[in-house]
Amino acid sequence: MHRSLLVPLLLSGVLGSLHSSVSLAEAFPTRDQLVAADYQKGRTAFLQRCSACHTLADGGSNLLGPNLWGLIGRKAGTSPGFAASPALSSAGFSWDVPRVWEFVAGPEKLIPGTRMLIPEPVPAADRTALISFMLLEIGAADWPRPAAASATATIDRSKPLAERYPSFFNHLMTNTTRYRMETPAGEVRFDTYFNADGSVSSSEKSIRGFWNTVERRGMEFFCYALDGIPGKPSQIVECFPIAAMAIPRFAEQLWTSKPTEGVTLHGGIMAGRP
Ligand code: HEC
Repeated sequence: MHRSLLVPLLLSGVLGSLHSSVSLAEAFPTRDQLVAADYQKGRTAFLQRCSACHTLADGGSNLLGPNLWGLIGRKAGTSPGFAASPALSSAGFSWDVPRVWEFVAGPEKLIPGTRMLIPEPVPAADRTALISFMLLEIGAADWPRPAAASATATIDRSKPLAERYPSFFNHLMTNTTRYRMETPAGEVRFDTYFNADGSVSSSEKSIRGFWNTVERRGMEFFCYALDGIPGKPSQIVECFPIAAMAIPRFAEQLWTSKPTEGVTLHGGIMAGRP
């Protein structure tokens, strides 16, 4: 799907091109630091902070953001098949390690007006590992993948969801999820409340549900089932990537799905609970 661009990582000059907005305390990683970085830590940071919107592998899909294969050395905003914002397309530079470092520290600071929104800057303590992992996965590292980079590595699910995704968890578990279901027989509206114990309750007494998380292809999904909806269908099952909800937002309408033919379900999150 995408043309492959294998650009060797040129680290000479990396330290010489310190951008004026970056303080010395945040100096870019040296090649030695990138080679020595913790692959699993970088992978976890990528999964939690980037994977909802980006794939890395050659030929990977564009999600909300572009596939990042071949990024290093490529002009900003020219990922094949992706319609970048005018801000990104006219950034006027090609990606190198210092630029990626700055971008993940604050997309808006490096490229004012970019459409990439992240809930918080990637902490300096995770940035070297994150970038090292990315370089290995986008064909830009000139050192071998660490033995630890086995395909069996998974998200650390030993910790509870509340610890792994605190802002997502708090957002969903303390606020109201509002639905509007458009069916041929009319509109059905109801509120649901996701509970920390895995249950889902509702403003409609007949509605009951439960939620769960599942991992698929290195991404973690939040899945839930609702039953007893006073309409057709009376049951829905939906899953979405948790990282897609990384930015806690309130709005009557945040997502739309088609649970069955001819039915449109709108969902949103309202502050608080009755
Ligand atoms: C909520 C979705 C989202 C998340 C999360 C996200 N990005 Fe992005 N990213 C985007 C979008 C959208 C763009 C295109 C921005 C534009 O057009 O201005 C983008 C663009 C980029 C680009 C520029 C690509 C190019 O071809 O010029 C890089 C590099 C990038 N993201 C890296 C990352 C990294 C690393 C992370 C994790 C720390 C991350 N992104 C997290 C949505 C996201």
